[in-house]
Amino acid sequence: MRVELSVNGDPYRREIEPDATLLSLLRETLGLTGTKWGCETGDCGACTVLVDGEPVVSCLQLARQVDGTDVTTVEGLEVEGELGDLQAAFVRNGAAQCGFCTPGMLMSAEALLRRNEAPAEAEIREALSGNLCRCTGYSKIVDAVLEAAESRQAPVDASA
Ligand code: FES
Ligand code: FES
Repeated sequence: MRVELSVNGDPYRREIEPDATLLSLLRETLGLTGTKWGCETGDCGACTVLVDGEPVVSCLQLARQVDGTDVTTVEGLEVEGELGDLQAAFVRNGAAQCGFCTPGMLMSAEALLRRNEAPAEAEIREALSGNLCRCTGYSKIVDAVLEAAESRQAPVDASA
């Protein structure tokens, strides 16, 4: 069967198996390997992407169900080949350790910041509660999201 969708602003049309997941479509068919393949049971959050702006665990989403949608993956957070603000904040704060969980963390955090530009720490922790990281206490990750939120709220100098 055929699926047509937008990924990071680029249009795609592909033939897929009816039981193909969005995760396999992204990684294996489209070659977008930034999205990580973890538990495959919806528990770890490593495969999180945005579908029409909402965070979704792509291992449990059938590819045919995203026909006609707008998908954003971690590759889509880049700006002109450079790290996006949230990605850069993760680097500055040492929020990525082994890094395997990081793409999913970034996408959950991005979804939060799109709907809440000034989240409290508790709201960040709640938004990331579906993303399991096995090698940190989450503090640096929360710091990174807070820093990105503050930078997005910073007033733009209109005279610049
Ligand atoms: S791989 Fe999808 S939630 Fe773990
Ligand atoms: S940095 Fe998250 S599992 Fe290691």
